[in-house]
Amino acid sequence: MATQIAVLKGDGIGPEVVGQALLVFQAAAARYSLELIFREALLGGAAVDATGDPLPEETLALCRQSRAILLGAVGGPKWDRLPAARRPERGILRLRASLGLYANLRPARLSPALVEASTLKREVVEGTDLVVIRELTGGLYFGTPRGIERVPDGERAVDTLTYTTAEIARIARVAFEVAAARRQKVTSVDKANVLASSELWRRVVEEVHRDFPGIALEHMYVDACAMQLIRTPRAFDVILTENMFGDILSDEAAMLTGSIGTLPSASLGAGTALYEPIHGTAPDLAGKDVANPIGAILSAALCCRYSLGREDAAAAIEQAVERALASGLRTADLARPGEPTIGTAEMGRRIAESVAAA
Ligand code: IPM
Ligand code: MG
Repeated sequence: MATQIAVLKGDGIGPEVVGQALLVFQAAAARYSLELIFREALLGGAAVDATGDPLPEETLALCRQSRAILLGAVGGPKWDRLPAARRPERGILRLRASLGLYANLRPARLSPALVEASTLKREVVEGTDLVVIRELTGGLYFGTPRGIERVPDGERAVDTLTYTTAEIARIARVAFEVAAARRQKVTSVDKANVLASSELWRRVVEEVHRDFPGIALEHMYVDACAMQLIRTPRAFDVILTENMFGDILSDEAAMLTGSIGTLPSASLGAGTALYEPIHGTAPDLAGKDVANPIGAILSAALCCRYSLGREDAAAAIEQAVERALASGLRTADLARPGEPTIGTAEMGRRIAESVAAA
């Protein structure tokens, strides 16, 4: 029986990059005999326009009955003034919460072909290979109370940062397991010198660490981590952190690799998993065939690895991307001044052909 993948293209450059990811996914499916069925649904601004709801009931139902979800990106200036509940971003947050996708894996590995594309010096970034494990369903993104209320001298806004022992323990476990298959080091990032939630975080991470004696654990404050990431990125293997710190640090980590356009992510929970590039909708690039599809394409590779259990297809896609970059193919975000560039569709086509020929 064919495995169903839900496809949520989203907004801005989402449809273009996911279009190319599908092309590559289909090439890998043909080459490695994966029986897949892709079914599209609306999410984000596109869903707001069509139904008034950034996560329509049909979309959630399709996702629930699919093995995995391939997502583009959501949001854009057109919807920025809507009330919070109807903004595109609420759609993806509700999707994460509804499917219990608590573990967000964001690998940032510098392709040798892109050393010169990084804004940092070669001797600093060369050899960077880390993964941010971001807790995705807790913390400030979901804590209550939240909102804006009237007070005598104006308004007052509140967000709440909560974490329970269980929430911390399960994400810490993921980080140690991921580290076990890598270079055996976890850097847990918090703000334990100020925040109560971080104090608990640090304590629980240490308790879970007892089950993983072979893994080195260090703790780092988030401000120091932001600094060390651009100072000695090679020193990091697995970065474990809460939701909002992970949002910020993963964008920073992405830039080590040359462009945020190349990085994929996997969001895992108990059932359906979600795969998406970490970049946003880049409204200024939308519809111009200039966006980099590699983050979306590598998200399809992660889907093969984690949801389909097909390391062969995952590695084939990753190697095809590596070959494309090594042969000098560049989208505009990766090109140095004067270097020739190709568009979104050509990059996708070249990688798909390379997968088919492997
Ligand atoms: C991300 C994005 C989202 C987040 C937005 C779109 C809600 O920035 O996936 O990193 O903040 O989690
Ligand atoms: Mg982000």
